[in-house]
Amino acid sequence: MKQYDIGIDLGTSSIIIATEQQGVIFRQPSVGAVDTRSNTVIAVGEDALRMVGRAPRYIDIIRPLRDGVIQDHRMTNELIVRFINQVCPSRLIRPRVAVCVPAAITGIEADAVVESVMAAGAKQVYLVDEPVAAALGAGLDIRTPKGCMVIDIGGGSTDIAVISMGGRVRAASLPVAGNAFDNCIAQYVQEKFSIAIGPLTAEALKKQVACCFQSEFEGVMEVRGHSWETNLPARRLIYTRDLYEPVRELAARIAAAAHNVLQSTPPELAADVGKNGILLTGGGSMLRGLAGYLAGELHVDVAIAPDPLNCVARGTAASLSLGKYLTAGFRDATPKVWKSRLMGPRDPFHAWGFVVY
Ligand SMILES: Nc1ncnc2c1ncn2[C@@H]1O[C@H](COP(=O)(O)OP(=O)(O)OP(=O)(O)O)[C@@H](O)[C@H]1O
Ligand SMILES: [Mg+2]
Repeated sequence: MKQYDIGIDLGTSSIIIATEQQGVIFRQPSVGAVDTRSNTVIAVGEDALRMVGRAPRYIDIIRPLRDGVIQDHRMTNELIVRFINQVCPSRLIRPRVAVCVPAAITGIEADAVVESVMAAGAKQVYLVDEPVAAALGAGLDIRTPKGCMVIDIGGGSTDIAVISMGGRVRAASLPVAGNAFDNCIAQYVQEKFSIAIGPLTAEALKKQVACCFQSEFEGVMEVRGHSWETNLPARRLIYTRDLYEPVRELAARIAAAAHNVLQSTPPELAADVGKNGILLTGGGSMLRGLAGYLAGELHVDVAIAPDPLNCVARGTAASLSLGKYLTAGFRDATPKVWKSRLMGPRDPFHAWGFVVY
C-alpha cells in the first residue's frame, strides 16, 4: 500500500505541515477561538487569528503554545487533529507522522501530542528535536562527525544547538524570540509615547521598522492605538531609532545564550563552527540586522538559511527517511498499544469535525 509521510512543525506561531517530496503543503497560525457560552471551538488558524483584538467578550482567542511550551492541551489537540484531517482526508492511507515539538516540552506534554496525532489517524508517530529538524531543513549534512551550529529563532523560543553525527552535542533554549520582541516593542511604545498598541501592530512594527543597528536602516510606520493621556484613539509615527533600545536588549540576550553554548562546546567542534559559521532558522531570524549583530558579538560568520520560516517543517519531513542516521533528537514515539493494532483509531467526532471543547 502507498506510504504517506508528513512532517509537522508544531510551532508557537504557526503549525506547518510538509512532505519530503512536495515541501510545505499546509500552514496555519497556531490559534483557536472558543465560544465560552457553549464551550465549543468556533474557529482555528487564519479564521481565529482575524478575531484577535476584535472578538466579543464571550469568545476566547487561545494561543495554545507559548514560550516554547504547551499551555493549553485541549486546543493543541484540536489544532493537530483538524489540521492533519485537512491534509490527509482519506481514511485508507494512514500517514507516518514526524512531529517537531517545542524544546522545553515535558514528557507528559509529548505524550499528549502523540495521542492527538494517533487520534487523527496516524499509523506511526516520531518526535524530532527542533534544532535537528532545523539543520536538516537548512540542508546541512548533520550525519558526519563535523560540528555545525544552528540557532532557531521562532515565535516563542530560541533554540541553540551544536550538532554533530546526527545528534545535539551542546544546546540551550530560551523564551526570547519573535513574540518577546513584539511584547517588548508594545511595552516600550506604551511607556515612551503613551499609546497602547495591539500585538498585531507591534509585530508589524518589528517586521517593517525595527532594526538591530541604528544606522543601517531608517524606516517609519504610523501606528494607531489608544492614548493613555486622552483615553481616546490616537496615532503616531514610529521610527527605527525609536525601537532600537528594546530590540537591542533582546538581541543581546540571544547573543549571550549563544555565547554560553559556544563556550561549553568541545574545542574540535568549536573550531568547525568557527570555520563554517552559524546558521539561523525560524521567522525571528529575519529581524533586520540580527544576523549581523550576532556575528559581531560572537566573532563567527552568521547566515540566515534560505526560506527560514519553513526549515523546521521541511527538516521534520526529511527526518522520516534519515531517521536511522540520527543518533539523538529523533525517536519512534508510537505507543505500544497502537503498534499492536492493525487498524488504529480514528476518533469519529474529530474526523467529522464535531468538536466539543
Ligand atoms: N520579516 C520578519 N522580520 C522579523 N520577524 C519576523 C519576520 N517574519 C516573521 N517573523 C516572526 O517570526 C516569528 C514566527 O517564526 P516561526 O514561524 O519560525 O515560529 P514558530 O516555529 O511558530 O515558533 P517556535 O519555534 O518558537 O515554536 C513570529 O514572531 C514573526 O513575527
Ligand atoms: Mg519553530
